Amino acid sequence: MITLALSKGRIFDETLPLLAAAGIEVLEDPEKSRKLILPTNQPNVRVVLVRATDVPTYVEYGGADIGVTGKDTLIEHGGQGLYQPLDLRIAQCRVSVAVRSDFDYAQAVRKGSRLKVATKYTSIARDFFATKGVHVDMVKLYGSMELAPLTGLADAIVDLVSTGNTLRANHLVEVERIMDISSHLVVNQAALKLKQAPLRRIIDAFASAIPPENN
Ligand code: ATP
Ligand code: PRP
Repeated sequence: MITLALSKGRIFDETLPLLAAAGIEVLEDPEKSRKLILPTNQPNVRVVLVRATDVPTYVEYGGADIGVTGKDTLIEHGGQGLYQPLDLRIAQCRVSVAVRSDFDYAQAVRKGSRLKVATKYTSIARDFFATKGVHVDMVKLYGSMELAPLTGLADAIVDLVSTGNTLRANHLVEVERIMDISSHLVVNQAALKLKQAPLRRIIDAFASAIPPENN
């Protein structure tokens, strides 16, 4: 049995064409079913639905053999115990710094200054501001980061941006792009040895179906 970990929403949706290339069809719609283990048309392949941030953990500990996860999540997890064979180029976005439009960011990030940053991405944010020589007071959040500068919780946020609509709707401006993000295939290293043939087949099929670069 091969167990594939996916999160509901964009990762599930954007992985479906890659699964199709491997001849795998998920037999239930996660938006309609309450089931967390979904069968596929291949009796030896199943999908487990987990929180996006839990995908690397499931694969690391063997709760799943293989999974699809954002590079953002992978960096925060650390990537230990994970073979990362493919950038799938799906769920593309970026990690950026954003502030209120009336906040003087250039002044706030002078070398040696202090900045209050709210984010779910504490590891990415810490590394980024460390290379700039800016001291950071980190506020860890799990969602709705955009609220933090509006309520005085923080000066800046580090969050995902795609169209920029969420920032605009909340009167925030993107002041720095930290890194481009896409989703990657991750594989449990022990499973790769024990279930080499079926996993290789899936990896190769995914590789053949990666969308072309759009820039
Ligand atoms: P959790 O459920 O664990 O809190 P989440 O709500 O961030 O995670 P998703 O919104 O499904 O879960 O995001 C999953 C991944 O998709 C992110 O880790 C990121 O790599 C990518 N992603 C998030 N937002 C966007 C977006 N607006 N456009 C493109 N890709 C995105
Ligand atoms: C993500 C991310 C941003 C938004 C950015 O949220 O956390 O808030 O997308 O995309 P945009 O620049 O196109 O507006 P998502 O839509 O996944 O909502 P959720 O994480 O709160 O479910």
